[in-house]
Amino acid sequence: MSGKPKNELNYVGRPIVRVDAADKVCGAAKYINDIEFPDLLIGITIRSTRQRARILKMNVPMLPPDVTFVTTDDIPGENYVTLFNKDQPLLAKEVVNYLGEPIALLAGTDEDALRKLAAQIQIDYEDLPAIDSIEDALSGKLPPIYGDDNVFKSYGYIKGEPGNAFAESAFIFDDTFHTGYQEQAYLETQGVVAFPYRNGVKIVGSMQCPFYVQKGLSPALKLDPHDIVVEQAITGGAFGGKEEFPSLISGHAALLALKSGKPVKITYDRHEDISVTTKRHPSKSIRRIGFDKNHHITAMDIDFVLNGGAHSTLSQVVLARGALGSPGAYKCDNIRMLSRAVATNQLPSGAFRGFGAPQAFFAIEAQMNHAAYRMNIDPYSLRKKNILRLGDRTATGQLLKESVGLEKALDAVAERTNFTEKYNQYRVQLHNGQPLKGIGLATFFHGCGFTGKGEELIKATASVDYSNETGVLIRIATVDMGQGMNTVMRQIAADALALQIERVIVNIPNTAEVPNSGPTVASRTTMIVGGLICQCCADLLKQVGATAEKRDFAEKVNMSNIKILTATRDYRVPDDVVWDEDKFIGDAYPIYSWAAAVVEVTVDPVTFEVTVDKITAAHDIGKAINPVLVEGQIEGGSLQGLGYASIEVMTETGGRLNQASFTDYIIPTTLDTPEMETIILEETYSRGPFGAKGVGEQPLVGIPAAYVGAVENALGVEFGEIPLTPEIIHRRVHRERRENTNY
Ligand code: MOS
Repeated sequence: MSGKPKNELNYVGRPIVRVDAADKVCGAAKYINDIEFPDLLIGITIRSTRQRARILKMNVPMLPPDVTFVTTDDIPGENYVTLFNKDQPLLAKEVVNYLGEPIALLAGTDEDALRKLAAQIQIDYEDLPAIDSIEDALSGKLPPIYGDDNVFKSYGYIKGEPGNAFAESAFIFDDTFHTGYQEQAYLETQGVVAFPYRNGVKIVGSMQCPFYVQKGLSPALKLDPHDIVVEQAITGGAFGGKEEFPSLISGHAALLALKSGKPVKITYDRHEDISVTTKRHPSKSIRRIGFDKNHHITAMDIDFVLNGGAHSTLSQVVLARGALGSPGAYKCDNIRMLSRAVATNQLPSGAFRGFGAPQAFFAIEAQMNHAAYRMNIDPYSLRKKNILRLGDRTATGQLLKESVGLEKALDAVAERTNFTEKYNQYRVQLHNGQPLKGIGLATFFHGCGFTGKGEELIKATASVDYSNETGVLIRIATVDMGQGMNTVMRQIAADALALQIERVIVNIPNTAEVPNSGPTVASRTTMIVGGLICQCCADLLKQVGATAEKRDFAEKVNMSNIKILTATRDYRVPDDVVWDEDKFIGDAYPIYSWAAAVVEVTVDPVTFEVTVDKITAAHDIGKAINPVLVEGQIEGGSLQGLGYASIEVMTETGGRLNQASFTDYIIPTTLDTPEMETIILEETYSRGPFGAKGVGEQPLVGIPAAYVGAVENALGVEFGEIPLTPEIIHRRVHRERRENTNY
């Protein structure tokens, strides 16, 4: 498909209006809270009020007969949510490991009455000493939460001879970086309905991965996966927050539904949603980097730690992506890398757009900006000397054989913003009480699709059906969560078959009706699932003797007497993609997207308030199937990265979040949105559908370092943490002034 000349395409590459646009704009779209279920009960969750404790006794008052009460005694099978490990219970039994951990459930018709009953349920605890930080987790002083050492997962490698390389370096820099929590802040909070169905249960809800829910609950509900039917309802945003968490809330609703025999709905209000659902992993990076006298990187020493919270969830895969990102988009032959995800008595951390990469790229990119400043070279020139290009090998030894648009992206943003000139000018601006200008840069990548063997494990399958009456039906598990995936898939199939797009529809993601094409995560959907759809369409063409070049599918299908056609394809990892997970060597991803971003700011010299004047971002994402949707991903992701870097402060005290509403947890609004210029670069990928790679996560990844770099450029002071608030800037600048009278 990829070799097809552009002018033959009616839909791919064009800004086709999203199929769901009108319904969503008019309010006709039915989210889980809008769907009516007869005889519906409301479910609520009784949660731990302690950070780490033994449960001694639960004192339950007399309950009215129409109220359903569920504890671990009502779990038919094994008490865990299936993911990588079996450590997350559906409900806590003997111990609780975080404040807010679910212990019991109530369902009834009147939510207020349920809340009153819940308040009467007394739980006696014996408090245990809590592990409250990354440092606590690794100190070995407190009894571990997970395994012997509190480490959910660790990856590491030594490449080349870092010791010798550092010894021969002209410059060596040591830095430590910290990143905080980030809340996904999807528009629609978590919500599901479960009801008894055939031999088991049906679950309808707001989610990214219907098959994760099915698989996740089969052992706990002691049901065959086929007896757990899961269907995605229209979903109001997710950002990773609806990747693994819906399995837990679905399990709760299912337990209540199976016990009561009625449909049960659990939806969280914003306070509960922020308080108990997964967040982006906080991180700590301790790094050393060396350069030769010509500013080429000689060696890196990386210690990267993620705070995974009380249960492992997806921490191991989040860690893998972070570890792979931690050397950045640079050539370097000598690396010592150690990465760990650790257990603490805090909220379980989980999936969030970027998946470990934003933390890792903040550290390497901020360190590159610091190194540039200290070596008296500008950040653009330093990157020009070190970035990965076609024919280079990544840190894990992966040969970059095609589609490497990093240098184009770097040059594009630098030229468009006049980067070097402004950077050098702002570096020497007078601090005379006038607003200070700053400009910052970052270069980054995102591996498209699952890390390493992930795609092999999932065995993604997609089907495309054709009937003369109803046209093309795409059957995939991909969810549209607002990113426009239903529209993209229709564009791909319509052009692959040379049909009108109106003749193509996408099946609702329902586990009983569609094959498992994998979860809607990891910037994989357009490339992997879209690629399978292309292959299915090629099979359909073949079945009627048509070809893509002749655009004669409709004609041939009409001529034949065939009424119904179907094609199914499984994803196969290409033979030349080889990954050794234990050694962390080889082709970590089938292909990468590449990007560079520049952030320009004005800093108030008195209040240290930062105004972002402009973001310029260039992204090589292969063929842009729908350029307007791609632009939307870049703008939205950039803004989410900006919030993460600047105003989205989320802290905890004794395991309790100090921010649990949008009054306290501030995300950027349209009024905080700077001017944005997006540059789409299309270095096509030979195996992607029409040359497409991935775009969903990458835009967020590089913005934090570019933002912090801009503030540093304005003030001439270095920072090592995000979110970088005016308070932190103020403290740091005043310390600098005390220590350095020349400031
Ligand atoms: Mo995700 S963070 O939904 O890959």
